Amino acid sequence: MSTQRILFCSSEVYPLIKTGGLADVAGSLPHALKKMGHDVHIVMPAYQSVFKKLKLAPKICADTSILNYPVRLMQTTLPGTRVPVWLVDCPEFFNRPGNPYLDESGDPWPDNALRFMVFSRLICSIALNQCGLNWQPDIVHCNDWQTGLVPALLEEEKSRPATVFTIHNLAYQGVFDRNTFEQMQLTDYFWHYERLEYYNHFSFIKGGLVYADRINTVSPKYAQEIQTPEFGHGMQDLLLHRSNKLSGIINGIDIKTWNPGTDEHLAKKYNRNNIKDKINNKRALQTHYSLPVDDKVLLLGLVSRLAEQKGIDILLSIIPEVINHPVQLVILGSGEKSYEQALKKTSLKFPKQVSVQIGYDESLAHLIEAGSDVFVMPSRFEPCGLNQMYSQRYGTLPIVTPVGGLHDTVTDINSETLEQNTATGFILENVTEASLLQTIDRALGYFSDNSTWTSIMKIAMKQDFSWEKSAGKYTQLYQQAILDNHKPVID
Ligand code: ADP
Ligand code: GLC
Repeated sequence: MSTQRILFCSSEVYPLIKTGGLADVAGSLPHALKKMGHDVHIVMPAYQSVFKKLKLAPKICADTSILNYPVRLMQTTLPGTRVPVWLVDCPEFFNRPGNPYLDESGDPWPDNALRFMVFSRLICSIALNQCGLNWQPDIVHCNDWQTGLVPALLEEEKSRPATVFTIHNLAYQGVFDRNTFEQMQLTDYFWHYERLEYYNHFSFIKGGLVYADRINTVSPKYAQEIQTPEFGHGMQDLLLHRSNKLSGIINGIDIKTWNPGTDEHLAKKYNRNNIKDKINNKRALQTHYSLPVDDKVLLLGLVSRLAEQKGIDILLSIIPEVINHPVQLVILGSGEKSYEQALKKTSLKFPKQVSVQIGYDESLAHLIEAGSDVFVMPSRFEPCGLNQMYSQRYGTLPIVTPVGGLHDTVTDINSETLEQNTATGFILENVTEASLLQTIDRALGYFSDNSTWTSIMKIAMKQDFSWEKSAGKYTQLYQQAILDNHKPVID
């Protein structure tokens, strides 16, 4: 295998900054690629909070200006790894507190287009070896709309590297108005429906979807789904048109961070051989959430961004039914205010069985994975989803909808899969309230049979969700992108 020089571009990278699964992927895939011998660099914005996470001050390695804004490029290392990280330090756009995409009231920062345009332009300078770094990648791997313009901006460059664009979530497209387009100093060439224009608006994600040498998404099932009107968010025709360049590669997980045998966030560590110790985490979780400590109830856990995608309303509407069973529900999440309020209201109504913590809490997320019996993910769509994989590793059986990566990473419990020792969780028949209720009923049935439940837990804990296989698939994808980049275009 030949080694590749890879520039991995992401707007969030764990543990430096995280709002969702993209950060987890950007913090673990480059590390896996590096371990395979590739020369990988990550590039991300230097948000204010990132500096607080670093033990040593980063080195300044380039000083430049983009669209008249001063920008410095700094270098550090991804904590816990030897992967170099370039931080794009443009104080005008990144030196502010809070969320990378949203202001204090939860609205997108009004200058998001400029912020990620500056980021994308700097990525292009690195890609073309114009930053004085004496390093040019073979591959620029872009992720989600924030880096979508990169393949478009590189398209006309003669000695450009190959480009890969990964869709982590097609619901977020980076769409702005015509005025914003005019501030970007892009040529009018791009204002065309086959390029960056989208219904008289300016779309960042189209830069990736139209121009990347290869496009992929984070599960094979979602790669199929997004070519249909139901899941395509308006991009289905474009994706169908490019379907010979589109594939799905399932995400891996960081098996060191998410390991019940070594996890410092747990009340009691455990593994497959002392699975009984898991119960201490259930008790700790019930105590944390002020619920009655009871080993016998089925404890359902949920950790999520509170967004329409995640089907929170589906769960909310069946809670009055669910609580007629010996069930408790613990929730950790933040996001849309309407869901936050509805969840709080429900927990006040059923204080002995439902408890909610609004906010973002890394440590509690680990305890929920360890302490719950079942992890619920009623997503309407789910490009990959990571929690159902974390759950299996923690012997917490997931209940999931039959979509995207949930479908691809959970094996439904039925007589056949039980016989074959492959069952790892519960898959809903449809994304409906009735189906969720029926599945929770089904889980209660299995839960009452302790020995069957324990044997399924052990199978779930045995699943290999490490990055190894998928990182290998990415290197093949990079190879294909390099070939496509060098192929003469014949119309
Ligand atoms: P998405 O990226 O769509 O939010 P994923 O399942 O891919 O969904 O990843 C979500 C990640 O964010 C998981 O690591 C999950 O544990 C974490 N997470 C989500 N909400 C919270 C929260 N409120 N507190 C702590 N971690 C959270
Ligand atoms: C997105 C998706 C999620 C996926 C994550 C990482 O945020 O919503 O399903 O796991 O990206 O790829």
